[in-house]
Amino acid sequence: MSGFWKPGTEKPRLVDDEEGGVLFFSASASSSSGYGYASMEKQRQRLPVYKYRTAILYLVETHATTIIVGETGSGKTTQIPQYIKEAGWTDGGRVIACTQPRRLAVQAVASRVVEEMGVKLGEEVGYTIRFEDLTKPDVTAVKFLTDGVLLREMMDDPLLTKYSVIMVDEAHERSISTDILLGLLKKIQRRRPDLRLIISSATIEAKSMADFFRTSKKRRELKSMEGGLLMEPAILSVEGRGFNVEINYAEEPVPDYVQATVSTVLLIHEQEPSGDILVFLTGQDDIDASVQLLNEETQTSRKNSSGLIILPLYSGLPRAEQELVFSPAPRGKRKVVVSTNIAETSITLEGIVYVVDSGFSKQRFYNPISDIENLVVAPISKASARQRTGRAGRVRPGKCYRMYTEEYYIKDMPDEGIPEIQRSNLVSCVIQLKALGIDNILGFDWPASPSPEAMIRALEVLYSLGVLDDDAKLTSPTGFQVAEIPLDPMISKMLIASSQCGCSEEIITIAAVLSIQSIWISGRGIQREFDEAKLRFAAAEGDHVTFLNVYKAFLQSGKSSQWCHKNHVNYHAMRKVLEVREQLKRIAQRIGLVLKSCEGDMRAVRKAVTSGFFANACRLEAYSNDGMYKTIRGSQEVYIHPSSVLFRVNPKWVIYSSLVSTDKQYMRNVISIDPSWLLEAAPQFYQQRPNPLH
Ligand code: CDP
Ligand code: MG
Repeated sequence: MSGFWKPGTEKPRLVDDEEGGVLFFSASASSSSGYGYASMEKQRQRLPVYKYRTAILYLVETHATTIIVGETGSGKTTQIPQYIKEAGWTDGGRVIACTQPRRLAVQAVASRVVEEMGVKLGEEVGYTIRFEDLTKPDVTAVKFLTDGVLLREMMDDPLLTKYSVIMVDEAHERSISTDILLGLLKKIQRRRPDLRLIISSATIEAKSMADFFRTSKKRRELKSMEGGLLMEPAILSVEGRGFNVEINYAEEPVPDYVQATVSTVLLIHEQEPSGDILVFLTGQDDIDASVQLLNEETQTSRKNSSGLIILPLYSGLPRAEQELVFSPAPRGKRKVVVSTNIAETSITLEGIVYVVDSGFSKQRFYNPISDIENLVVAPISKASARQRTGRAGRVRPGKCYRMYTEEYYIKDMPDEGIPEIQRSNLVSCVIQLKALGIDNILGFDWPASPSPEAMIRALEVLYSLGVLDDDAKLTSPTGFQVAEIPLDPMISKMLIASSQCGCSEEIITIAAVLSIQSIWISGRGIQREFDEAKLRFAAAEGDHVTFLNVYKAFLQSGKSSQWCHKNHVNYHAMRKVLEVREQLKRIAQRIGLVLKSCEGDMRAVRKAVTSGFFANACRLEAYSNDGMYKTIRGSQEVYIHPSSVLFRVNPKWVIYSSLVSTDKQYMRNVISIDPSWLLEAAPQFYQQRPNPLH
């Protein structure tokens, strides 16, 4: 079964909206081949967005908000900030911000722009992501940053006064921070007529986005000029090039998508002419598994799979490995990039001709009834599938292999994804808005409204954490301190409690480790050695204390990479822990926490963890012999994840720091506790419930 996908047939179609008076520009851009050597300047001029340079600058000059839609790779992210700068918007020390939902995209895009402009990273062009700031005050004019970081900047500068233009990029992703940001920027706009917004995205939601920026304003008012400025949002559609992509579907549903993608890559390599392959999987675990399987094939297979260069791509990848992904494969070799959905629209890889789409991505889901949020491997939407397919047609006609049937695509795949704000726990979001002085959160002007149940749950947890008071205002100092720490509020609360428990040095280490995906290196086939390595550090109290043991041993080894290798510890992750730890120490000092070590008193550490994570407490079911726990909050069935040192140990009372759901709900990072600490940590939370601790 195969179909044909013609770019153009499903392209965003923007109509001149007469009623709303939406401005619409469309010039046809002829496609130019991307082959051969070209100077950086020539390359820039070949990008589809270049033909719109004047139109973009005109719209930004004359409109408060400009919405720009254009296919991935058309040059929105790398070019528009440069055009804006060239037009003088950074004169007088002003700054252009360009936000991205993903950290890795921030880094990749900043590096590219630095290269194009021939400047040094961190000077004129810089970036800021959580725990990493490569900008210079008064020097950096073009700043790439995550949407989350820009939100944090508003805590110090609510009107974002240093920015002349803010480009909210990848708006179609509808990340939770993007949505909050859009709501706030709309407010700021009324106070700052000099500010210009650019909302850019790969797929079309331009009209609803324009509606969002238009609502609550009278049309008459919108039509009028405020000092020559049009308040009506402008929409610009960048016609991209793009070649035909042939779509191949699976004949039957595939039982194991990792295996299926691996086989497909090998088949492409055997049967298809040259051209790089981009594989979409869901996260580090299945990407590592697939990379490992492909490498094994390359080494053992008699078939000619030796010409493959196999590279993973996911957030948290060290910079050096990221760069490999962007560099072209040597002559005669074929590059295979195995990626999360970051390569869907956030970053462009040159030379991709084949796409293998597993049909899945990792998505956050939250259920306000059970109060459980977890990352789930879930089917993607048709919009995502189309984006993935499009990645094969950038340099010449390509092919896309979908690991699902055509029938499934047509009948079962949802058209669009759900905005993250409608499938997330809202605890962090509420704190941020409260810290910005937005009190009526339900009445906030959301691009998509979160559910009232989720909002109530969040308020309840924040009240129990002592972050909000009876009037739902931030408490002083705890509430303000929690808001100040750029971590999950439960981790922040744990940190603040550690100051009182006298174990802040230890808890800072734990917080740093929890902010990193994993400090271990695991893989298919080495499970036993890995388990043995882990046993060397295993602590009876649980994973958090185990982390402390690893950290201590790492320091004792002189921060040695060989030591890490020998113990299946991820050296890059440990370097990152050191970095994050330093930053957290500085923040802790700034907000007045006492830095102190408990010198081995693990009771203190466990109590501090309980103070932050009491809402994640679980009890082992007495009758259960398969290690079933129930959450105290929602009586949900959960199990200790096999990667935890408490797997099969099953202490009666535990607290987890996150859940992953596969066949069951698994707790990751688990620590044993004494139930009496729960009452101590959050009396309101546990006393309200009928006899919860018995
Ligand atoms: O944002 P959009 O998807 O519209 O495109 P972009 O990220 O600005 O990329 C424009 C072009 O820059 C791509 O087609 C790539 O050729 C190039 N690019 C690159 O070579 N390396 C990067 N790290 C980023 C972009
Ligand atoms: Mg982009």
